[in-house]
This record gives sequence, C-alpha cells and structure tokens, in this order.
Amino acid sequence: MAFPSAPSALWSVSLLTVLLAAVVHSNIVYDEDPLQPVTSDETVSVGGTVTLTCRVAESDNSSLQWSNTAQQTLYFGEKRALRDTRIQLHRSTSTELSITIAEVQLSDEGEYTCSIFTMPVRTARATVTVLGVPGKPQISGFENPVTEGGEVTLTCTSTGSKPPAKLHWYRGDQELEGRPNVVESNPDDPTYNVSSELTLEVSRDDDNALITCAVDHPSLEPGDKRSEQSLRVLYSPKVSIRPESDLPREGEKFHLQCLGNSNPEPTSYTWEKEGGLPPLAKVDGAFLRFERLNKSDNGVYLCRAENDIGQDQGEYPLQVQAAENTADPTAMSTSSRVDHAVIGGVVAVIVFILLCLLIVLGRYLIRHKGTYLTHEAKGSDDAPDADTAIINAEGGHSGAEDKKEYFI
Ligand SMILES: *[C@@H]1O[C@H](CO)[C@@H](O)[C@H](O)[C@H]1NC(C)=O
Ligand SMILES: *[C@@H]1O[C@H](CO)[C@@H](O)[C@H](O)[C@H]1NC(C)=O
Ligand SMILES: *[C@@H]1O[C@H](CO)[C@@H](O)[C@H](O)[C@H]1NC(C)=O
Repeated sequence: MAFPSAPSALWSVSLLTVLLAAVVHSNIVYDEDPLQPVTSDETVSVGGTVTLTCRVAESDNSSLQWSNTAQQTLYFGEKRALRDTRIQLHRSTSTELSITIAEVQLSDEGEYTCSIFTMPVRTARATVTVLGVPGKPQISGFENPVTEGGEVTLTCTSTGSKPPAKLHWYRGDQELEGRPNVVESNPDDPTYNVSSELTLEVSRDDDNALITCAVDHPSLEPGDKRSEQSLRVLYSPKVSIRPESDLPREGEKFHLQCLGNSNPEPTSYTWEKEGGLPPLAKVDGAFLRFERLNKSDNGVYLCRAENDIGQDQGEYPLQVQAAENTADPTAMSTSSRVDHAVIGGVVAVIVFILLCLLIVLGRYLIRHKGTYLTHEAKGSDDAPDADTAIINAEGGHSGAEDKKEYFI
C-alpha cells in the first residue's frame, strides 16, 4: 500500500513547487487580505527608468494611489497629481496602478507608498534604490618612459558610484594586485569616489605593455568601463649578430648586422675581431660589410652596442665556405662521388626488395588459384555436424599442405 502512494505524494509536492515558482516568479506575493495592495522594491541606475507596480487581488472599485518619498501624491487612479513629466501612468485597472519614473536621479531614492481608499485605508511601501553609475576610470602617474628595474606607480580613480565601485588592475588578461581601494565620501554627496594604486617594477618585457583599470559595479556589465595605459620602458642593449646568409661563400659579397635589441636604439656600435678586422671589411654603423669574402676573413667577430642605459656585446664565428664552382675540385668530386655511391646503394636495395615481392606475389597467386579450384571438392571448413567433421579431418591433410606452401 505504501508503494502506490509514494508517486502521488511526489506529484503533489512537485505541483506545489510549480505553484510556488509561479507566485515567486510574478515577483508579487498576495496577502491573505484580498484588498491589501502589494508592491515590490526596485533598484535602478541614475538616468534609468523604474516602474512601480501596485496590485490588489480583488477590487471593490476603490481608487489606488501612488505617493512619493515626500508623501506627495503622484497618481490617484488615472489622475496625475504632481507636475513632473518624468512620472507617467503605465497601467490603471480596478486591480492595478503602475507608474514609471524616467531619468531617475539620486534624489528619487526612498520609500514610495501605494494606498487603496477602502475603509480603513490600506497601504504598501516600495523602496527604490538608486545606483550611482561610476564614471570612466582615469589612470594617472605615468608621464615619461621608465628605465628597466625602476618602479611605476599608477593611480586609477572613478567618481560618482553608489554603492562604492571596486577597481581591478590587469596586465593583458592577467589580474594584478593593487593596493586596497580607497573610498572617498563627502557629506553633501551621496556618491563615492574610489581610487586604487598599483606599483610595478618594470622590465624590458613591459615596454608597450597595456595596463588596464576596470570598474566593477552592480550598475555595469563586466568590462563596460575600463581604461588602458601603455608603459614605455628604456632598456640597455642585448646584442645579437645576424649574418646576411648562413652559408657565406668565398668570393661573395656579405655583411654582418649587429642587433642592439634596446630602447632607445644604440647610439654607437663597435666592431672588433681577434687579431684585428680584415683590411677590406668596412664598418658601417650596425653593419660590417665584406665586398668579397675570403677564407682569411674567418674568425670570431665581436660587436659592442651602447645606449644611454648601458652596453652589451655579442659574438659571431665567421666560417667562410669554399666557393661553389671555382675552388678545390678534389673536395667537390669526392663529396659528389660519395653522394652517388649512397644513391646507387639505396636504388639497388629498393630494386632487390621489389623483385622479392614480385616473386612472392607470383607464387601466392598461382597457389591461390589452385586452392580455389580444389575448394569445392574439399568441402566446407566449418563442420556443422559430425559427418562433415570427419570429411574435414580427411581433407585436413591437403589444407596443411597449402599452408606450408604459403610460407615458402
Ligand atoms: C465595480 O464597477 C463595475 C462597473 O464600473 C461594476 O460592474 C462592478 O460591479 C463594481 N464592483 C464592485 C465590487 O462594486
Ligand atoms: C569626487 O571627485 C569629484 C571630481 O574630482 C569631486 O567634485 C567630488 O566632490 C568628489 N566627491 C567625493 C565624494 O569626494
Ligand atoms: C683570398 O685572399 C688571398 C690573399 O689574401 C688571395 O690570394 C686569394 O685570391 C683570395 N681569394 C679570393 C677567392 O678572393
């Protein structure tokens, strides 16, 4: 007996849930007294529009009325009572009086009252909370480029929020830890000014990095209000040397380029080589130029670059290759002979493998054709009963023979 009752209990619970959900969803919960007006609290941002709704479950045709925070009547039924064009009638029926307030100001915040002139008069209150929309954040504190290893302190401020906004710092997608938000208030201003400081020790990687300050506030969607500050960092050279080609050959025109990788660009470059630069190598700022490479140019080249921040040097070991067609015929032919021998060997192996495959394939095809022809006489391999199994046992001899031949 307990079994069938369980689903029905479950059913009534779920029905109750649906009903409750419907009541909660309508945002208005009717009181037991059907003439008691019902309202709801509202939150609106400065400049927005709020709708105040007052409903009764049943009506005895008594008029509904909305009054403002100063107890001034706004609407009495369909009749406008206050000369304020921001306030408009939204809906008036025997059971509902809804009004809208547009271009909401901070001074509109407070408790509004809905009354129904029954005997006695019944009232309900609705609290309107007005959010002060924070201003676009402003980042200050960065004017001039900073030398690597130095510190930068940025300040982000946002005015006019209510409740106080929260400020967050980011470098790209990564959140940075700023100092706790400082909230400023003022007795004659219901809004708050919020600020946050961020101190960064900058490295060369921070040059052109974007630092973002974003405002987090209930009146905003995430990412609505943010400001960016790009950093400029001065850093010393980190020299690398780039050859014109990776295989410099004797007799060719060639150059080495000294890359400073600094900010600002190096003010000077110095080229050196152990035992002195070759007389025909020409220094041209960041470039060292060779009109006609010669094996006597081989050696380790050194470039030193300098800017106002510091200096660095890099090395490049130059190894001039023999010219492509003119130089050293013995070396050339030896290497090509080796190449030919290797290619010939590979070709021979491939031909050998192909031949073997052809022989095996030929034999297999001949065998396979033989098996196919004798298959009917031999009978089925899968014996469905004892008689055929005996037949198969007799035929098993020839099957084994076939297998043996496949492996040749
Ligand atoms: C309210 O007024 C309507 C017509 O205006 C009338 O039909 C209805 O009976 C009235 N209801 C009550 C409860 O007086
Ligand atoms: C916020 O900043 C503005 C502009 O700087 C200023 O006029 C206002 O008085 C400040 N408000 C508070 C609460 O400090
Ligand atoms: C390289 O220099 C030597 C003398 O320094 C010269 O005899 C030779 O011809 C040069 N080789 C080339 C390819 O210019």
